[in-house]
Amino acid sequence: MRAMVYRGPYRIRVEEKDRPRIEHPGDAIIKVTLAAICGSDLHLYHGMMPDTRVGHTFGHEFVGVVDEVGPDVRNLKVGDRVMVPFNIYCGSCFFCARGLYSNCHNVNANATAVGGIYGYSHTCGGYDGGQAEYVRVPFADVGPALIPEWMSDEDALMCTDALATGYFGAQLGEIREGDTVVVFGAGPVGLYAALSSWLMGAGRVLVVDHLDHRLEKARTFAHAETINFAEHDDVVVHLKRITGFLGADVAIDAVGAEADGNLLMHVTSAKLKLQGGSPVALNWAIDGVRKGGSVSVMGAYGPMFSAVKFGDALNKGLTLRMNQCPVKRQWPRLFEHIRNGHLRPSEIITHRFPLEHIAEGYHTFSAKLDGIIKPVIVPAA
Ligand SMILES: NC(=O)c1ccc[n+]([C@@H]2O[C@H](COP(=O)([O-])OP(=O)(O)OC[C@H]3O[C@@H](n4cnc5c(N)ncnc54)[C@H](O)[C@@H]3O)[C@@H](O)[C@H]2O)c1
Ligand SMILES: [Zn+2]
Ligand SMILES: [Zn+2]
Repeated sequence: MRAMVYRGPYRIRVEEKDRPRIEHPGDAIIKVTLAAICGSDLHLYHGMMPDTRVGHTFGHEFVGVVDEVGPDVRNLKVGDRVMVPFNIYCGSCFFCARGLYSNCHNVNANATAVGGIYGYSHTCGGYDGGQAEYVRVPFADVGPALIPEWMSDEDALMCTDALATGYFGAQLGEIREGDTVVVFGAGPVGLYAALSSWLMGAGRVLVVDHLDHRLEKARTFAHAETINFAEHDDVVVHLKRITGFLGADVAIDAVGAEADGNLLMHVTSAKLKLQGGSPVALNWAIDGVRKGGSVSVMGAYGPMFSAVKFGDALNKGLTLRMNQCPVKRQWPRLFEHIRNGHLRPSEIITHRFPLEHIAEGYHTFSAKLDGIIKPVIVPAA
């Protein structure tokens, strides 16, 4: 089969690879109809993620058709149209029993630190991902669900990570009616978090980024006020000024460890590797929220982090919440919102690349060229 393959930082290509096989009676093989590239894949592409091995196939957002099932699989049959959450999880361990699907204890040798994720390096279990013609899905009775017949493949694809994560980000912010919510990052996760904040009762939603085409989308798609941080000497001071000098009630970090906006942090992290990454967006969230407010972190960070303003978070009495999204937990509500038209997830898709051109997709998305917001990969094209 054809599959995207990692060759080293900034180097990927499409190669011929063995079609995955059923390795366990609970596995299914899915023929991928659509996959997406996530902002998280860029951390792999940039060589930021430990133990990303040459030959690994990325891709944790995908939908497809069941091609083969192991003898123990009960809920899926060949030909079913399915959506697969980015988490790999057993469904029965201590953590899964508590709905912490992203923290499953049975799917990754590094389970004390992180759960299992498709196509996300051997740090996250070493499972090949869905940017390929076929993918092996372990615990096939647990994660995947049939795509409702009224839902498009593209909407279902957005539910496998980006939309669920944005919604979860707003949920962890514990938004109360009338709250002012500031979202850092106007990528797919930030746009969905901003839109979801309204559904949870926000009275005002602000989105911060420095890419004008994404801020435009934040206004038209997420109905948010926008702030271009490059236009302000100190974006936190600006934020305070427009929120009665108190700060927002809730901040959502949808940027993560590769944040721009502070040269010193960029040099000490990306260049000199003195820190695990740049804490700029996280610190803006801590500074930009009022005392007693909440910070919800969806942006990805490595295990060790240095220059986070933890003392300020303590002294301000903030609530900090974070996790990898337990995707399937969000689906019942998301399905309802999509069905009744409150969410139209596929509106953020800007680019569709055939699998053979996936390297161009990564480059365009990484360099944020051509007005890109969300790229989709089409194996059959
Ligand atoms: N927790 C989870 O389950 C989960 C799931 C999906 C993605 N993520 C993470 O969420 C983050 C966003 O994902 P995405 O797909 O939207 O990525 P993306 O790369 O498309 O978007 C990130 C955006 O942040 C902007 N940005 C950079 N520095 C900034 C700053 N200092 N302040 C404000 N904005 C800034 C960039 O210009 C860009 O528009 C990534 O770190 C990704 O790894 C986490
Ligand atoms: Zn992702
Ligand atoms: Zn489990």
